[in-house]
Amino acid sequence: MKSYQITGPNGLDALVPVDRPEPEIGPHEVLVEMRAWSLNYRDLGMPHGGYYRNDKVKRDPPMVPLSDGAGEVIAVGDQVTRFRPGDRVAGIFFQTWLAGDLTDAQIGSALGGAIDGVLSERVAFHQDGLVRLPESYSFAQGATLPCAAVTAWQALTLGNLQAGQTVLMLGTGGVSIFALQFAKAFGARAIITSSSDKKLQTAKELGADVGINYGNHPEWQKEVLEATDGVGVDNVIEVGGAGTFERSLASAKVSGRVSLIGVLTGQPDQNPSPMMTLFKRLTVQGIYVGSREMFEAMVRAIEVNSIEPVIDQVFGFDQVKEAYQSMQQAGHVGKIVIER
Ligand SMILES: NC(=O)c1ccc[n+]([C@@H]2O[C@H](COP(=O)([O-])OP(=O)(O)OC[C@H]3O[C@@H](n4cnc5c(N)ncnc54)[C@H](OP(=O)(O)O)[C@@H]3O)[C@@H](O)[C@H]2O)c1
Repeated sequence: MKSYQITGPNGLDALVPVDRPEPEIGPHEVLVEMRAWSLNYRDLGMPHGGYYRNDKVKRDPPMVPLSDGAGEVIAVGDQVTRFRPGDRVAGIFFQTWLAGDLTDAQIGSALGGAIDGVLSERVAFHQDGLVRLPESYSFAQGATLPCAAVTAWQALTLGNLQAGQTVLMLGTGGVSIFALQFAKAFGARAIITSSSDKKLQTAKELGADVGINYGNHPEWQKEVLEATDGVGVDNVIEVGGAGTFERSLASAKVSGRVSLIGVLTGQPDQNPSPMMTLFKRLTVQGIYVGSREMFEAMVRAIEVNSIEPVIDQVFGFDQVKEAYQSMQQAGHVGKIVIER
């Protein structure tokens, strides 16, 4: 069967199509005919030697990339009780994080990092490592969910978001756009930043109440405070990392929350000051995708609220490199998908 492998640390040239043996399933396993995949910012790091901030999710090449994929169950082992042939499913990011708090061992079960990912025509999963897609979703839509959407869901639900509260999203990538959609479904007010007025317009069409161009307003935290009568927001979806952290702390209200998620900006040796956490009595919560239980709760919310993912571009299974290049150029709003 056709698959892709990252063969070394030398960038996108290391990402090559390969012929691999058909997977065989054990008694507790499910064989999935993969039909669609989606890219996350994390996937860009893998062909460059790994996701540099966390060794536990890093493995030496060769490895199969991508955490996010969806498809149809075509065979099940004789002990499988959760799925039947014909079911439409997606893999969960941490294959063994089913519920409760994340453990050290579970971090080592991350698809497309610690273990082989899903960018193959067929993949064998343990039955515990799969969830059903939302009823109305296409495979392409389903493939957007495992990493970005579950991350956004965890950030908002751990923060116990209430109707009428305000959430700040940074940029218009996969995590931020899902967070925007979920925040609106919760009845919250949404403020979003972007480098592009055009993307801000798209975000407003998706329900954003306030858009701030961080290119025109490098001190964007001041705009956030102005938009909240000087109070600040209840929860910041902090995908920027070292380069945005201090401004995110400044954007949060007293006793508010910063959900620390991403590493888009800043340098590995940059050390932003956490002190505003103390002075404003903030909660800074690290978010690491989420469990199967969170994924399933999110699917229920998606179905009840008819939330559809924002898919910016779709590439063919023979255009994987082009999909990665497009992700690298960061012209997208929401998600980039590969389909076969
Ligand atoms: N902790 C976790 O579990 C977890 C899970 C998923 C993702 N992440 C991390 O979260 C981040 C986002 O991931 P993603 O997959 O959503 O990325 P993505 O789709 O590639 O999003 C990229 C977007 O981020 C925005 N951005 C870049 N620099 C920015 C800045 N200085 N200020 C505000 N926005 C900025 C840009 O939006 P505009 O073009 O609109 O400016 C860019 O288009 C990444 O660092 C990723 O590694 C972490």
